Amino acid sequence: QTSSSSPPSSSSPPPASHFIGKKEDIVKAGRMTKLVNGCRDVLVLYHQGQFHAMDMRCYHSGGALQYGDIEEFNGRQCIVCPWHKYKITLAEGEGLYQAVDNPTAKPLRTHWRSKGVKQRIHKVTEVNGDVYVTLNDSSEAIDSDVYQTEKYRTTQGPA
Ligand code: FES
Repeated sequence: QTSSSSPPSSSSPPPASHFIGKKEDIVKAGRMTKLVNGCRDVLVLYHQGQFHAMDMRCYHSGGALQYGDIEEFNGRQCIVCPWHKYKITLAEGEGLYQAVDNPTAKPLRTHWRSKGVKQRIHKVTEVNGDVYVTLNDSSEAIDSDVYQTEKYRTTQGPA
């Protein structure tokens, strides 16, 4: 008997991952928030056939990203914070801003630039219709970390 060339179907979630919800529920709702591992509020999004996960509160001032629209800027899918309209790329958590090419030129020409990674992105895994998140525990500080403290959890209440 020859072995199949297709990869073995993974039947168990990755170690250190946390169950978020059923795939069909997240796909239907488009988004879901969850307190993961008792320590981090995470927003899981389903957009154009892909799952994304990031810290739930915006790196700028703690805005509720779960109520933001998803729009494309310069070919990159972003969540737009409902508070002050900051744009955050879904894939990398980069903050985008509109830069002016030459302030003295008329008409003004602008283009989108990145401020670098501002929002902590987490890894999403789907196993047998269940969706899991593995927290990104890189020790490098990311701006959105500031809004993951107990203070913000209790002042803004549960998601
Ligand atoms: Fe998100 Fe200000 S809190 S843009």
